[in-house]
Amino acid sequence: MEAILKIRGLRKSYGPFEALKGIDLDFYPGEFAVVVGPSGAGKSTLIRCVNRMIDPSGGEILFNGMHMESLGGTQLRKQRSQIGMIFQHYNLIGRTNVIKNTLHGRLGHMNFFQSLLGLYPDTDRERAFNLLEEVGLAEQIYKRADALSGGQMQRVGICRALMQEPRLLLADEPIASLDPKSAEIVMDQLKHLAEERGICCIVNLHQVDFARRYASRVIGVKQGILVFDGRPEFFTEDMARNIYEGKEAQMGDKRPEIKGMPGEAVYEPGYAAV
Ligand SMILES: Nc1ncnc2c1ncn2[C@@H]1O[C@H](COP(=O)(O)OP(=O)(O)OP(=O)(O)O)[C@@H](O)[C@H]1O
Ligand SMILES: [Mg+2]
Repeated sequence: MEAILKIRGLRKSYGPFEALKGIDLDFYPGEFAVVVGPSGAGKSTLIRCVNRMIDPSGGEILFNGMHMESLGGTQLRKQRSQIGMIFQHYNLIGRTNVIKNTLHGRLGHMNFFQSLLGLYPDTDRERAFNLLEEVGLAEQIYKRADALSGGQMQRVGICRALMQEPRLLLADEPIASLDPKSAEIVMDQLKHLAEERGICCIVNLHQVDFARRYASRVIGVKQGILVFDGRPEFFTEDMARNIYEGKEAQMGDKRPEIKGMPGEAVYEPGYAAV
């Protein structure tokens, strides 16, 4: 299968500080990749470089076969229209209703006048409604977004991203502001909706337990370096502790300890062992 996203030697410096020190990763359609690592590891920087919310300092990002790092203007917008984004703080327009917020996902597919006047075709309205219905929000479509609970807001965020018909979904800490029950609903729906559509998802999480539970692939980042890339069953408790060394409190809710073989690092063949 052809990779949808190829990252090669990705570097990002903020002044003299190197936040990403050369990352190589390939992503494939249908993957649900969860990036874990302690605060400051470079997870957000990695995700933001992919859609050029941040300009990388070096390396290559190939999405749909095009070099994201050197695109600008119309071409960059066109590429971005195929990348859905989900944010920790939802980024909805609070005073605007749920269905309109969802329809905003179509803006990248419309011309200036259509978007200015909100001239969404009926097919878009129907799709927006169907998506909202699928996440259990059919009754809320005319409510202002700021009248929803956090979990409901994030489900609107997911619907908005899916309205783009993206080939890639990037989610930066989508459940960090939610209680555990809402977090579970959001992760269940995100995974289900992406899987159904064969969309590649890259999700930043700090909760190791959620990563193990939902990921088809876990990616561990520590101080700007890739330190794990493999199936969740190989992401042992020892491995997690090593990545979060000194910052174990950030690993999320405590789980019963899963013991790895002492001193042995197990990696899924086919994935880069780093
Ligand atoms: N705009 C910036 N200017 C300077 N340093 C930055 C900037 N953005 C991030 N950094 C630094 O780069 C490093 C990586 O930051 P990043 O936000 O990518 O980490 P993260 O893994 O997402 O952390 P968190 O779990 O706290 O969200 C951190 O040390 C951070 O302080
Ligand atoms: Mg972050």
